[in-house]
Amino acid sequence: MSEQPDQQPTSTVNGTSGVYRNGNGSNSRHQSQPEQQPSAPQANKFSPRSAQIVGWGYHVPEKVITNFDLEQIVDTQDEWIRTRTGIEERHVAAAPSETSASLGIRAARAALESADVAPSKVDLIICATSSPEHIFPSTASIIQDGLGASNAGAFDLSAACSGFVYGLSMARGHILAGDAEYVLVVGAETLSRIVDWTDRGTCVLFGDGAGAVLVAASDVPGGITASVLGSDGSGADLLTVPAGGSAMPASLETVSSGGHYIKMDGTAVFRFATRVMAEATRQVLGKAGLSVDDVDLVIPHQANVRIIQNSVLKQLKIPEEKVFVNLQKYGNTSTASIPIALCEAIEEGRIHPGDNLVFVGFGAGLTWAACAIKWSVPVSKPEETWWRNTQRQATYQAAAARSMWKRAIRRVYSQFPEESRWGGGRKEGNEAG
Ligand code: ACO
Repeated sequence: MSEQPDQQPTSTVNGTSGVYRNGNGSNSRHQSQPEQQPSAPQANKFSPRSAQIVGWGYHVPEKVITNFDLEQIVDTQDEWIRTRTGIEERHVAAAPSETSASLGIRAARAALESADVAPSKVDLIICATSSPEHIFPSTASIIQDGLGASNAGAFDLSAACSGFVYGLSMARGHILAGDAEYVLVVGAETLSRIVDWTDRGTCVLFGDGAGAVLVAASDVPGGITASVLGSDGSGADLLTVPAGGSAMPASLETVSSGGHYIKMDGTAVFRFATRVMAEATRQVLGKAGLSVDDVDLVIPHQANVRIIQNSVLKQLKIPEEKVFVNLQKYGNTSTASIPIALCEAIEEGRIHPGDNLVFVGFGAGLTWAACAIKWSVPVSKPEETWWRNTQRQATYQAAAARSMWKRAIRRVYSQFPEESRWGGGRKEGNEAG
C-alpha cells in the first residue's frame, strides 16, 4: 500500500472538482460528461478527504438453475420457494474453472474498467467471501495476481453476508486515514460448492456470483459518509459450516456426516435479520445526519424478500420504490448480493448523483452492517473504444505472463541445492537462528 501520511485533497480540474483521479492522472469521466453531474456536490481545495465509489462491476456464472429444476433434485415446489423467499432462479458455478477468485477477477476488472483506472493504481484489495478458495492463501491475493495489481495489498474479510458492507467500511477507513488512494472491495461466492444439495431448507436459497466496487480518495464531499458494524457471536451456531476449520478439522467422519456443508436454523436467522436490518438502517442514518425520508434508495442484502418487507419496508416505512430487489434472479449470493444489486440499480437508472443510499446486510456470525452513501459521481461508464479494449486485454495478458514467469522462476530455483543458492551462508544463518 502507498504511504501518504500527509495526503492532500485531489486537485480540481477545469474549475470544477475532480471526484477522483484516474489511471493517467486526468479526470476523463468528468471532462467527458460534465452535463451529467449537475447535482454532484462541488468541492473547494479545503474540502476534507472523502471515499467515493467510482467503479462497479459484477459477474455471474452462465448456468441458471430455476425453482423447477430444483423440484427434480429435492422435495420442493416453485410455489413454496417463490412465496416464502421471492427467489425464482439462481446462477451456479458449474464449470470447475468458475471459482470465487475467477468470478471475483471478472467483477473486479469490470469495476476498474468502469472507472477507467489501471490495476497498478490499486493500493488495497479486500475480498469479502463466505466461500473462499482456501483457508489460506486469501482469495484476495489470487484476485490481486489475476488483475496484475502489483502495487496492492490484499486480504480476505470474513463476516459472511455482511462482509461486503464491512469491506466498504474498511475501504473508507484506509482512504480517510490517507493510507490508500484506491481500494477494491470484492464480494465473491461459489456457495453452491458448500451447499448440501439434499437439504431443501438451504439449497433453494443460495446462488453464485461476484460484485466489486472501486473506492477512491476524493475531495468532493459525500461518498461513504457513515457505517455501522455489529456482531453477536452467541448466535454463531445458527448459521455455520461446522467442519473444515481448526475446531473440527476435515476427516472421513466430517465428510461422511456432511459437516462441511452449510447448516442453518432458518427461522432464528429470519427473526434476527428482520430486527437488525431495520435497526442498522436507522443507526447509520442517524450517524450520517439523515432521516428515513431523506433516503433515495436502500440496497439491502438479497436473502429473502420477506425479510426485506418485514424490516425496511414495514418497520421503517420506506416505500417499495425506494428499495432495490433483484433476488428473484440470483438468490442469496451472500457477500456478492449488494454489489450485484448496486450494478443493476445503476443499469436501471435508479441511482443519480446527489442521491442518499443505504446498503444494509446481515449474516452468519451473527453479523450485521450498514453504510450511508451520498452518491457523488456520474453513473455513466467511459466510452468503450477498440483501442482501449485492446490495451486492457494486453494488460491482462501481461499480468498472466508475469505470474507464470514468477512461478517458473521459483520452480527452476527450487531445483538447485540449498548451498549453491546461498553459497553456504544461509545454512549457517539457519543454524544460528
Ligand atoms: N420446499 C418446500 N417446503 C419446505 C422447504 C422447501 N425448500 N424448506 C422448508 N420447507 C417446509 C418445512 O419443512 C416446513 O414444513 P413443516 O411445517 O411440515 O415442518 C415448512 O416448509 C415451513 O418451514 P419454515 O422453516 O418454518 O419456513 P419459513 O417460512 O421460516 O421459511 C426460510 C424458511 C426461507 C429458510 C426462512 O426461514 C428464511 O429465509 N430464513 C433466513 C435465512 C437466511 O436468510 N439465511 C442467509 C443468511 S446470510 C449468510 O450469512 C449466508
